Amino acid sequence: MSILSDFLKEVDEGYTVIATSGRVVYANEFMVRRGIIKEEYEGKPYYECFRVLTLISAVAEGLSEKRRIATSFEHEEVEYQADVFPAGDGTLLRLTDITKFKRYERSKKEFVANVSHELKTPIAIIKSILETIIEEEKDEGKRRLLERALKRTEDLRNIVEDLLIITKLESGEEKLHKKMLNAKELVSVVFDMLREIAQNINVELINEVDENTKVYADEDKLNLLLLNLVDNAIKYNKEGGKVVVKARTEKGYVILEVSDTGIGIPKEHIPFIFERFYRVDRSRSRELGGTGLGLSIVKHIALSHGGKVEVESKEGEGSTFRVYLPQSI
Ligand SMILES: Nc1ncnc2c1ncn2[C@@H]1O[C@H](COP(=O)(O)OP(=O)(O)OP(=O)(O)O)[C@@H](O)[C@H]1O
Ligand SMILES: [Mg+2]
Repeated sequence: MSILSDFLKEVDEGYTVIATSGRVVYANEFMVRRGIIKEEYEGKPYYECFRVLTLISAVAEGLSEKRRIATSFEHEEVEYQADVFPAGDGTLLRLTDITKFKRYERSKKEFVANVSHELKTPIAIIKSILETIIEEEKDEGKRRLLERALKRTEDLRNIVEDLLIITKLESGEEKLHKKMLNAKELVSVVFDMLREIAQNINVELINEVDENTKVYADEDKLNLLLLNLVDNAIKYNKEGGKVVVKARTEKGYVILEVSDTGIGIPKEHIPFIFERFYRVDRSRSRELGGTGLGLSIVKHIALSHGGKVEVESKEGEGSTFRVYLPQSI
């Protein structure tokens, strides 16, 4: 026991044990040194000891619901991750200083935002120069080469545009223009945009959304969200497969569901597919022209609307993506 308490004294994380009665049994040095708990904590109720409101609510929830709670907060310019675990007769709280990690995350995002912004203009210039030369080029061979260069420039522009959209949504800079939209119509617009690609690989598009389903959202953003989900559902499908879109209302949310009968996503990849540039099968994705930004856009659009996105998938059988959007105004 003394080895353990020596370890907890030195360790660079905070630990606190709270009994079912709500009294604090133990807190390590970190908790006191960082000013998160009062020095005189022993045997006192946790809500009198913690100096951070977020922790009081997290512990209250952990004690009453007996499940793991994860949250984060800032205290005296330090950012913390807090995890509350049910343990024995009470609850264990663990605090981790995530300031460096958050700073790194922010600088990574800023870097991507700056680079994307700087690339936008040169790419647009190259594209317009190539278009002009192609028009004037008489030599068939040279024109084919220039057309290839133009296609690659367009791919590059699309990547930069996707990154800029993600950056803006993430920073909250992008203002949403929400209004009541007809979900069935939205889906049929997206189907029309992708019908040719679907027909080329013999995939059937089925719009099962009820005519009366309304969704309160930004039209362009929701169109982009559906476009990415339906594009994936076609691209990762099988010859003769199906894509079905449904919608339902549940507990204050409109749930849009895009299902396919495609290749599915192996379980171990599911936690990562919403990350930027993540692709399950790189060679297949490259062949299909994917960069791995689509689902990141989907996630950020759902989050910026106060919603979320979930996925269920079975390898070899297909996938279902569910987007939850709050119904209220
Ligand atoms: N419906 C689906 N069925 C099977 N795998 C999928 C499905 N949707 C996404 N994936 C997997 O998740 C990865 C990430 O998807 P995402 O849409 O972000 O990227 P992408 O389609 O490769 O490229 P992009 O959308 O940027 O053109 C894909 O590469 C694919 O491996
Ligand atoms: Mg995609």
